[in-house]
Amino acid sequence: MTSTGTDSRLKLAVLGSGRGTNLQSIMDACAGGAIPVQVVCVLSDVKDAYILERARHGGIPAEFVDAGPFRTKLEGAGEKRYIERLRHYGAEAVALAGFMRIVKRGLLDAFRGRILNIHPALLPAFPGLESWKQALDYGAKVAGCTVHLVDEGTDTGPIVVQRAVPVLEDDTPETLHARIQEQEHIAYPEALRALASRRVRIEGRRVRMGQKA
Ligand code: GAR
Repeated sequence: MTSTGTDSRLKLAVLGSGRGTNLQSIMDACAGGAIPVQVVCVLSDVKDAYILERARHGGIPAEFVDAGPFRTKLEGAGEKRYIERLRHYGAEAVALAGFMRIVKRGLLDAFRGRILNIHPALLPAFPGLESWKQALDYGAKVAGCTVHLVDEGTDTGPIVVQRAVPVLEDDTPETLHARIQEQEHIAYPEALRALASRRVRIEGRRVRMGQKA
């Protein structure tokens, strides 16, 4: 992971399909100098996703990039288009923030060990869609969120940061998701701070966060 010139901040691309509240928390942390990260572009597979508007509002280049014919994965020509745009913007690392597709080998190889994802559950419990509903249906007493490095699996990969929230008696899917999201907005900047300061060391499936290397 290298940054050129006098700006040593990590050049980060954010990929998302939805509202972009995680992007907002990352942009706020960058703007306040809380993390040594610069968001160089935001790409979305959904033309009118609000995440693109948030990015533009924050002065960040934002593009809809056609992800191709598959609905749930990024592969083939679509994947090539994403890699081309990421290189165009000089991205050194990628944050998936509500990007609702599984990324495949091509992108993983291009950014090996430098792709993070946020998931609204305490992985490895409740991977997949609408995890907060899964947690409620299961009767879990504790829910939360996970930021992890992305590998070939679905919501697998070494865990970087987790934050827990209690499940309350009167929780609905909406109230639980909202409390999980509050924690996501703390967790993502925390994970990015570790990644940017090279404090993330991967040992098998374990991520250790130590002193700056
Ligand atoms: C977040 O809750 C994130 O954890 C979830 O999508 C939401 C995006 O919100 N991601 C997944 O479920 C991925 N499996 P945002 O667009 O407001 O950041």
